[in-house]
Amino acid sequence: MSKRLFIRTYGCQMNVYDSERIAESLAVHGWSRASSPEEADLVLLNTCHVREKAAEKVYSELGRLKRLRERRAAEGKELLLAVAGCVAQAEGAAMLERAPFVDFVVGPQAYHRLPELLARRERARGGQLATDFPVESKFDELPERSGEGRVSAYLSVQEGCDKFCTFCVVPYTRGAETSRPVRAVLEEARRLIELGARELVLLGQNVNAYHGEGPDGRSWSLARLLEALAELPGLVRLRYTTSHPKDMDEDLVRAHARIPQLAPYLHLPVQSGSDRVLAAMNRGYTADEYRRIVDRLRALRPDIALSSDFIVGFPGESEADFEATLRLVEDVGFAQAYSFKFSPRPGTPAAAMRGQIKESVKAERLARLQALLQAQADAFNRATVGRTLEVLIEGEGRYPGQLRGRTPYQQPVHLPADGLSPGDLALVTIVASHPHSLAGRRAGAERECRA
Ligand code: SAM
Ligand code: SF4
Ligand code: F3S
Repeated sequence: MSKRLFIRTYGCQMNVYDSERIAESLAVHGWSRASSPEEADLVLLNTCHVREKAAEKVYSELGRLKRLRERRAAEGKELLLAVAGCVAQAEGAAMLERAPFVDFVVGPQAYHRLPELLARRERARGGQLATDFPVESKFDELPERSGEGRVSAYLSVQEGCDKFCTFCVVPYTRGAETSRPVRAVLEEARRLIELGARELVLLGQNVNAYHGEGPDGRSWSLARLLEALAELPGLVRLRYTTSHPKDMDEDLVRAHARIPQLAPYLHLPVQSGSDRVLAAMNRGYTADEYRRIVDRLRALRPDIALSSDFIVGFPGESEADFEATLRLVEDVGFAQAYSFKFSPRPGTPAAAMRGQIKESVKAERLARLQALLQAQADAFNRATVGRTLEVLIEGEGRYPGQLRGRTPYQQPVHLPADGLSPGDLALVTIVASHPHSLAGRRAGAERECRA
């Protein structure tokens, strides 16, 4: 009988990508996917360490799984538990001490060793740890992409980060910045297209710092990689995330005008609108430099929409600093955004800085910022009503006869099938804007769509 695997993924898209690759690498060894921990022989938590709340969730989930494991043991059966991702990397052996019932702790650069650790576990009891940064690249060890195939597929092209923003754990959990060679990216892209992908989302903690080795032996920029990918037959849309403003060079800005497949949508985290705070964060740009990048992008690609990340309550952030963030938001105008209260992370410089902000002040600033960002997002969504946009159909909708897809601006759209199927790129007229999605109909078709 095949063994069943359940994966719960926390954190960013890179973790989603890693979870897919973990499942594929175990599928080769006879593991199929379970739809709940109760049905599984192995439960893997792919974890995030970026904010305290995210990391805490792991331990409460592990507490629940421990009880499930005990119930299973009482029936004479085994449930294996694995922790992967950034909490695994940050805690390493300490995790096996704090949660000794965990069988495997594997870091983001070592999860290709999971099949080997599973085999070792059959021979010997005790927790297995793999949180080193092995000399072999996991990408060379993982099996070829398989799985169900997605219309919009993630593809990691760059990993790690050397920027060391003072608030961030990523450089410690994901290691130094590395780029995959162009050949490996193109191979994986072709395979994903064979499996049904029509859109690729290139991933990296710092994706626009990409500098992978090209087939000519030289280092290729992200813009050049995007151009090569745009040549692949069958691919209709390209995106990339997450970019750092410092690496938003002219070539990449121009790529938005040059490459028709490149969606007119960019996630460009700014974090703060105050130069003083940006300097303390070690971001490497000023608020006006960020504004200028946006101006350049809009000059070359007037329909581009932006999204961003913000942190409020960074140590030393004054009311005036916070107001500078609000001003930047008003000046730029975002289609979407994520905003967070500063969360002091162990071992990062900001956690030890003077001027930590009271929780109540953080909460009040976050509420003000989110009200403004939400108003902008609502206005952006409402402004698409009546427009006809290219929608990539990604799958079935909530109701029979309904499909769901995404606009170039990442907005989810529900629409009646009207002869369309997943994978189609269709012209869709947006007829209504609801809180979490848009409703549309195929351009020229008469019926409207329930949201
Ligand atoms: N590499 C991306 C960049 O440079 O913006 C971001 C990666 S991080 C995984 C995603 C977001 O989490 C960041 O943009 C930041 O807004 C937020 N974040 C990171 N560390 C944080 C912290 N200590 N407290 C609150 N938010 C944090
Ligand atoms: Fe973290 Fe800064 Fe690197 Fe982004 S650029 S991953 S925020 S250190
Ligand atoms: Fe979290 Fe690690 Fe991603 S800390 S946001 S899962 S890189």
